[in-house]
Amino acid sequence: MALTAAFTGLVAIASVGHAQGEASDPEVKARMALMKKIGSQTKILGDMAKGDTAFDATAAQEAATTMAAAAGEIPALFEPQATDPESEAKPIIWEQWSDFTQKAIDLETAATSASTTITDQASLGPAMREIGGACRACHETYRESD
Ligand code: HEC
Repeated sequence: MALTAAFTGLVAIASVGHAQGEASDPEVKARMALMKKIGSQTKILGDMAKGDTAFDATAAQEAATTMAAAAGEIPALFEPQATDPESEAKPIIWEQWSDFTQKAIDLETAATSASTTITDQASLGPAMREIGGACRACHETYRESD
């Protein structure tokens, strides 16, 4: 039983890997690359928040600034209703376009605010909660979570 469970787990991990493969549609590729960029800024802040990397106010503020700029690009890069088998974007994005873009603005606002409020280790937590809330608010409606 334990062996079966372990194997099933591996298959699940492998299939997630497959689902995250390269898109071939250029517009889908561009918006996924934008999300990856947002994801890597989040990781910079998250690693500092967890203490995996040393706190560095300048680096943290830069990550937040880069994230805010990337969030500002979400509407332009998602506007074409491009599709790709690797895409996790739900069609409802284009049915509720103004709500979707509002959620991009919410992330931009949270990241812009973080770029000035992150001054020490203790300020990372509240900033990350705001940013994380903005990611989840959009993903829960507009991204497939298979
Ligand atoms: C306005 C909506 C919105 C916001 C805000 C948002 N995302 Fe996304 N994100 C999406 C959508 C839609 C997709 C799926 C895109 C696709 O596969 O075509 C996605 C995909 C991703 C992916 C997968 C990219 C890939 O290559 O498959 C990552 C990582 C990601 N988002 C991280 C984040 C993080 C971290 C935040 C917050 C800091 C965030 N996102 C905020 C809408 C959003």
